[in-house]
Amino acid sequence: MRERTRRVISERVASLAPSGIRKFFDLIESMEGVIKLGVGEPDFAPPWHVRETMIDSLSRGRTSYTSNAGLWELRRLIADHLLSTYGVQYDPAKEILVTVGVSEGLDIALRCLLDAGEEAIVHEPCFVSYLPCISLAGGQPVAVLTKQEDDFKLRPEALSGAITPRSKVLLLNYPNNPTGATMSREELEPIAEVARAHDLYVLSDEIYCALTYEGEHCCFASLPGMWERTVLLNGFSKSHAMTGLRIGYAAGPAEIIQAMTKVHSYVAMCAPVSAQIGAAEALRNGGQAVAQMLREYDQRRRVFVAGLNRIGLPCFEPKGAFYAFPSVRASGMSSEQFSERLLVEQQVATVPGSVYGDCGEGYIRCCYANPIPVLKTALERMHTFVREHQVGGGRAASEAQAASQRGG
Ligand SMILES: Cc1ncc(COP(=O)(O)O)c(C=O)c1O
Repeated sequence: MRERTRRVISERVASLAPSGIRKFFDLIESMEGVIKLGVGEPDFAPPWHVRETMIDSLSRGRTSYTSNAGLWELRRLIADHLLSTYGVQYDPAKEILVTVGVSEGLDIALRCLLDAGEEAIVHEPCFVSYLPCISLAGGQPVAVLTKQEDDFKLRPEALSGAITPRSKVLLLNYPNNPTGATMSREELEPIAEVARAHDLYVLSDEIYCALTYEGEHCCFASLPGMWERTVLLNGFSKSHAMTGLRIGYAAGPAEIIQAMTKVHSYVAMCAPVSAQIGAAEALRNGGQAVAQMLREYDQRRRVFVAGLNRIGLPCFEPKGAFYAFPSVRASGMSSEQFSERLLVEQQVATVPGSVYGDCGEGYIRCCYANPIPVLKTALERMHTFVREHQVGGGRAASEAQAASQRGG
């Protein structure tokens, strides 16, 4: 056999850390009876009328490419939706691109905005794809930590402190994965001021905006002076339970969206046509189904978060998305040990907070997109686990309470 004279995998890819979640998902696959609070995915099916429209389009043989930017009708509906819901106006001809989920929008937006070595600021804990996508785009990720005592909101001082002459992009995600934190218009205004003062471009990943339980979601582009420097990323995965259909969109100034469309035309050609047809139907008639799912998630949120606090896993109150992020510090285990042992001993799958960044250590992420009886069983199992691992019985609860008071 010939000896290898060069590396097979590029340094850029080889140097990426493997996803911390993968290991858990592989373990779960080999186990039975697991309650899955790990994957961030709705347990609902997309509304029936959405599925029916897609089935009908397939039976008519609509399986061809669409225009690179996406079906005109879908882009028009997205523009109408953004205007009527958030008061932000986009021209569907030039300022909207339909993407293969928010994942693709994120990737190509970063590739369009970042030159080698330019910095993208990310608030942690954050969605697992952000840092790798920034690195793959040739950029330099810069993490700004958020804390439980600030309700995991990005503080303008912390953002200012992370800015250097190389800062170009701010990646924002509220409602947030993994914490469930939200930020109001008043809280986002000073962030917008920092972005303006330092000429930052903002990628605002608002994929969970439809899942806002308290107050109103603030679309970042609607803040004064932000439209021209923001790319809004959104999609149908979470709001309409369409994760596997791979459909999202980017909205922003024509210059950026046209550059993104160029890259998209080379790497994806277009988003899947059936999913585009389904997404259009979701925007036309899906409002009620979204409201119904929101009500259901809200009930689950209340039951699950109260339950976590009761069993000695103090949990910050999430106001959006479908994640609870309880502290496990009182157990004395690392978040990875806690998640792994909880899975092996009680068959409850969660994700260690450490996979979302260093400041996620001491927490686990639980996705409560599960029926209430399942969540109650999960809580019982977690309670058993917590009791079994307490040093000296009652100490657990008091440690948990003390940690909670410290913001732990
Ligand atoms: C914050 C965030 N952004 C983007 C995505 C990816 O979404 P999509 O399915 O639209 O690619 C996820 C998925 O979990 C997410 O949590």
